Amino acid sequence: MTVQHDHKGAKSAGENPQGTLSVTDDRTGETYELPVADGTVRAADLNKIKAEEIGLASYDPGLVYTATCRSAITFLDGDAGHLAHRGYPIEELAAQATFIEVAHLLLNGELPKAADLKAWERAVATGGTADEHLHKLVASFPRDAHPMSIMLSAMGALPAVYPELAQAPADGEPDPRPARLIALGSTIAAMAYRHGLGEAPVAPDTELSFPGNFMSMMWKKDGQPYEVDPRVEKALDVLWILHADHEQNCSTNAVRSVGSSGVDPCSAVAAGVAALYGPLHGGANEAVLNMLREIGDVSNVAEFMTHVKNGERRLMGFGHRVYKNYDPRATIIKKYAMDVLDIADGSPLLDIALELEKIALDDDYFVQRRLYPNVDFYSGLIYQALGIPSKMFTVMFAVPRVSGWVAQWMESAADPEQKIVRPRQIYTGAPTRTYIPAQRRD
Ligand code: CMC
Repeated sequence: MTVQHDHKGAKSAGENPQGTLSVTDDRTGETYELPVADGTVRAADLNKIKAEEIGLASYDPGLVYTATCRSAITFLDGDAGHLAHRGYPIEELAAQATFIEVAHLLLNGELPKAADLKAWERAVATGGTADEHLHKLVASFPRDAHPMSIMLSAMGALPAVYPELAQAPADGEPDPRPARLIALGSTIAAMAYRHGLGEAPVAPDTELSFPGNFMSMMWKKDGQPYEVDPRVEKALDVLWILHADHEQNCSTNAVRSVGSSGVDPCSAVAAGVAALYGPLHGGANEAVLNMLREIGDVSNVAEFMTHVKNGERRLMGFGHRVYKNYDPRATIIKKYAMDVLDIADGSPLLDIALELEKIALDDDYFVQRRLYPNVDFYSGLIYQALGIPSKMFTVMFAVPRVSGWVAQWMESAADPEQKIVRPRQIYTGAPTRTYIPAQRRD
């Protein structure tokens, strides 16, 4: 969640002072004045509070209450259910922009002017050709490999296959890597899909839109022209706008954390893919579909909910670390789910999802814990209606998120306040002891 109250742009340290926090250390009787700025106190100021030699540190598993960076990319107010990229509300972007415009906005701070948009679209359209090493890498996986595993490996392999992606451009030169990474992410995702079907990869079609090209790389039949269905193309574009960036979530934090070592952007993005794979994060969309299939029928919903409330199960696609009102992306996605599922003649699982949501929104367990549908509750249903298998759902999340990860990596790399990430721990292990050779151990 964004803690900076005035989010008009990136600020330097302490630019929004809000007074001080007076702290008296009962251990020493000393009083300290800690500056408060942007709704935070600096951990370095806490560290000046000392009873012994080591200063105070904060303990925050999951970094729930810790701001780790300043960012001008995404603003998120979880209590109000508000999300905006570079100041533009997500509702406006989803209704009017294209994903490729939003990617430009995240990376460069502004929506592109018409001529810049053409150049940017071209750079992404022409940046996704995979060479033979990438083909061989994907082909080397077992046919039933999870496509996220393939994507993770292939993103990590990019600096070896294309060494230029590991090199920063010369001073003053434009950086071609964001366009290449976004384009290659979509090529790799489509290759992983076709590998699972035992089909050869399809080369990118540079004349198609970003989602249209992805559809062609997934579904084009050998030797036949590919006809893009504009309704599917639009649905994908909207879903990808909603998934492009989401502030300091688990995978973005992984990208920034790994990137802080100075590694190239492909390796940092591979760390993001790994984090996204987990069922509590991007893997939730696949888990939702599995859950709906397991429930099987509306008549089984009440019993499933009893297991959830007993703490034996999680209602996948519900709850969020920062949204405690509603997830604005879920509202947009639900509308799209209705439209798309209508196109695709309905889904037997939609009735189960609607019943789960109805019960949850009315039930004390969920109301008290402020658990609402998140972006993943309906996205899987849409992907399923578009003919995409559930194993691919998290990959479909990763394709657009590459734009957010790269934007966050770039911002972090340019931020003079950032350092290599190296948190503290509270050691709970054995005290210092002496090594005993194996023969003398009891
Ligand atoms: N079903 C049932 N109970 C839940 C759920 C859920 N989906 N989510 C949270 N709770 C309960 C949890 O058991 C706890 O109860 P209690 O206070 O009695 O112990 C309380 O709500 C707080 O939960 P928490 O785990 O401390 O909350 P968190 O902020 O650490 O976790 C979350 C956030 C998203 C990991 C969690 O809500 C969850 O596991 N949801 C299901 C997975 C999911 O849909 N993930 C996608 C997130 S959105 C897409 C993305 O950007 O990743």
